[in-house]
This record gives sequence, structure tokens and C-alpha cells, in this order.
Amino acid sequence: MSTKVTWLGHNAWSIETGNTTILVDPFLNDSPTAPVKAEAVKADYILLSHGHSDHVGDTVAIAKRTGATVLGNFEVTQWLGKKGVAGDKLVGMNPGGGVKQPFGHVKFTIAHHSSSMPDGTYGGVPGGFVVTLDKTRIYFACDTALFLDMKLIGIGGLDLAVLPIGDLFTMGPSDSVEAIKLLSLKRVAPCHYNTWPPIAQDANAWAAQVRSQTTAEPVMLEPGDGITL
Ligand code: NI
Ligand code: MN
Repeated sequence: MSTKVTWLGHNAWSIETGNTTILVDPFLNDSPTAPVKAEAVKADYILLSHGHSDHVGDTVAIAKRTGATVLGNFEVTQWLGKKGVAGDKLVGMNPGGGVKQPFGHVKFTIAHHSSSMPDGTYGGVPGGFVVTLDKTRIYFACDTALFLDMKLIGIGGLDLAVLPIGDLFTMGPSDSVEAIKLLSLKRVAPCHYNTWPPIAQDANAWAAQVRSQTTAEPVMLEPGDGITL
């Protein structure tokens, strides 16, 4: 079964596998770079990495419209419940935990970052995701610093990793190259850059670093573009 992974700008992604669409951090209507509005996306599942508004984005509206199931940390899913997302559509997780879903398996991985909800309430701990679809494994690091335990996340092989390169709020280009080495990657797509001036980066310079220092292939996408795995 082929899987298409499409960048929706910032840390927002759409994974289409079979008849299932999985969104990651659907920050769309207020994103300067999102190629699509929240009203127009399909979603059967939504993966939410942490409580910051540039990740929660349009989750409440999309979940209510589509009936999508939302997976995220326990506190984030509790907050979504208070905003009117149905309790049976919420899967609260914590780092290190995984859960089977009809489309495959989702593991919530550690991330070094902060997490507060858009209204300032406690947002639990941030995380990333390893999504396993049949034999395809994709790692979304989401907002995080570089950490040595990425070596553990790479065990078993990854078909694609999505890493932030924006710096300031997350790891920057050089640290992401170290992350690629720790994860033993075949392919890597950058994100969380060029959304706003404080996280502007030269992605082509980053790709050149990746090619010269690692054996991974950089996947260079514009918002709206996708890669088929
Ligand atoms: Ni954040
Ligand atoms: Mn962010």
C-alpha cells in the first residue's frame, strides 16, 4: 500500500494511506504558508504533538467537522474534550506509549520543548510520533531540541523522518544534521522553518550539509508538495 505524505506548511502534514487521512499538527487558517484551509482538509485521525497554538491550530474545528479521532498527550486531549471534541474521539497518550489504530500503530516519543495550551493552561509534555503503516515507518520529531536518545528512535529503521530546522524554538540546521546521523536515516524532510522571519532558514544550504555529512536523502518540499513512500 503506498503512502503519500504532504507538507501543509510549518509542522502540519497530511498522510494518506489507503482510504485513511491522518493529519499532524493542523495549523492552517492562521499559518502564513499553509496551502489549504481547515474547512477543506480531510481527516480521519489527527496527531497533536503539544499544546502550542502553531500546532493545535484548527484541530477543534476539524475534529468537530470530520469526526476525526485525535491522538495527543493526555492533557492536550483533556483540553480538546473541554472544547467540545467528543470523548470517544480522544486518545490520550504519554511519552514512550504506543497505541494500535485501524491504519497502523502510533508511538508518542519524547521531545525537549515546552507545552502550554493556546489559553495558557497546562499542556502536558510535548512529544513526537513514530507512525507505522504496514511496513512503512515515519518519524515526526515535531518541536524539539536535538537529543541523544534519537538513536533509540532510529532502531528498526525509518523510511522518512521529518525534522525541524528553524532554530530559535527548536533545533536548527546543524543540530538536525546530527539528528539525522543518530537516527540513521534514508530520507529526511525539513519543517518548522520559513513560516515567519524569526525561523527563516536557507533550506538548500541545509540540504547541502545533509548530503555532504550523511547518507540521507533530503526531501525538499514546498507547502502543498508531497512524497510517496
Ligand atoms: Ni512549540
Ligand atoms: Mn512550534
